[in-house]
Amino acid sequence: MIIAVSGKGGTGKTMFSSAMVKILAKTGKDILAIDADPDSNFPEALGVDVDKTVGDVREELKKDTASGNIPAGTNKWDILDYKIMESVVETPDFDLLVMGRPEGSGCYCAVNNMLRKIIETISFNYDIIIIDTEAGLEHLSRRTTQNVDVMMVVTDPSHRGMLTAQRIGELAKELDINFKKLFLVLNRIKYEDEALIRQKATETGLELGGLIYEDPLISKFDREGISLIELPDDSDSIKEVANIVKKALKFQ
Ligand SMILES: Nc1ncnc2c1ncn2[C@@H]1O[C@H](COP(=O)(O)OP(=O)(O)OP(=O)(O)O)[C@@H](O)[C@H]1O
Ligand SMILES: [Mg+2]
Repeated sequence: MIIAVSGKGGTGKTMFSSAMVKILAKTGKDILAIDADPDSNFPEALGVDVDKTVGDVREELKKDTASGNIPAGTNKWDILDYKIMESVVETPDFDLLVMGRPEGSGCYCAVNNMLRKIIETISFNYDIIIIDTEAGLEHLSRRTTQNVDVMMVVTDPSHRGMLTAQRIGELAKELDINFKKLFLVLNRIKYEDEALIRQKATETGLELGGLIYEDPLISKFDREGISLIELPDDSDSIKEVANIVKKALKFQ
């Protein structure tokens, strides 16, 4: 099963993706977390060191090809597949793959195309894949998330966050991308604003998956560089993410 997380920049996609990984890792299922944001910080949020990204692997292969280090007749995709598997970081609880970005001014679309292929191939080795996507709508227009089962669209209370969420829903329809389910996730909500924000959320036309409050512990962990995996199981945020995950798992 593939769950992707999207939304406007800075709304809490990486926080929410990390919290989902934390919860799912406990189920004993094989989990792969994919950082598909070129300006990524999913590894830090998960407390994992990564030294090679898919972008790096691609650059290496390009250099090897140019310098004639690859024997004639070798299928480049086979080498790439093998190298990509090598760049998967394994931890006792989950695996992590970071897409990264191409060197210099290289077009990010190449890495995007690879992500689509990776999702098609290595996804069979895992029970659940969690993708932390790049902010905005490109993952839809480039169809990198077209095989996703459940799309989680995260927004904070801001008007622009809500607008991006609404556009993600509309664009998915326009492009005929049929997720089994698309949920809106409200994040960083203050108790006193909850009623108003719930009202605003209905105007997006998206189904509400859940509501996470502004959590001082998340801010503290972020400030102090502590992995979000360490958030306590009984924190309100983690309990709410667990509820949302439960809803998502119905669409396996
Ligand atoms: N519920 C919350 N309570 C308090 N702080 C939060 C909450 N959710 C996220 N944050 C903080 O908001 C900031 C942005 O969160 P995060 O990095 O998860 O967003 P993002 O959507 O992944 O951003 P980007 O688009 O840059 O990748 C971080 O500093 C994070 O600690
Ligand atoms: Mg992020």
